[in-house]
Amino acid sequence: MSVTAIYPGTFDPITNGHSDLISRAANLFDKVVVAVAANPKKTPLFDLQERVDLARSVLAGLNNVEVCGFDTLLAEFAKSQGAKVILRGLRAVSDFEYEFQLAGMNRRLAPDVETLFLTPAEKYTFISSSLVKEVAALGGEIDDFVDPKVKAALSNRLR
Ligand code: COA
Repeated sequence: MSVTAIYPGTFDPITNGHSDLISRAANLFDKVVVAVAANPKKTPLFDLQERVDLARSVLAGLNNVEVCGFDTLLAEFAKSQGAKVILRGLRAVSDFEYEFQLAGMNRRLAPDVETLFLTPAEKYTFISSSLVKEVAALGGEIDDFVDPKVKAALSNRLR
């Protein structure tokens, strides 16, 4: 049986923490779909297509990983992709409450899809897309947090 996992997020932009989690997932599942949510309520710095393109170029080396944008309910998108698993990352206890709610709602909407959690490598536990954007905007070094292609896109956008 082939198992597809879907890894949803805003990815504004994709960070090394996301990539670390995706590489781990690619070793566990037959296929991983990185699902980039339109998420207009977060007023993203990069539009949906830019976020998808950045994630695609960063993840190009992973053969069983696909990147798609979506602007529907995650539960519906997961079903349409034939995914049996929704993957989320847990970096700290503070992530747990929101993730627990999200998992509960998604189970209600798609009872056959299980939410599974992975933890990123310890060195990435403090990274978030918002913090990376803030550090970059204020001229700080972000080389350890994002791929060089993401760094270039950020300096272009923030110039
Ligand atoms: N390493 C580093 N950072 C990580 C990380 C990891 N492994 N995992 C998450 N993060 C960071 C992200 O960069 C992000 O940081 P930011 O808030 O500063 O931008 C933060 O943790 C959490 O964001 P993300 O993982 O992108 O999730 P989200 O909360 O923005 O998105 C969705 C949540 C997309 C899953 C949710 O909004 C969704 O499902 N939307 C679709 C519509 C829907 O179905 N809604 C009902 C849901 S029940």
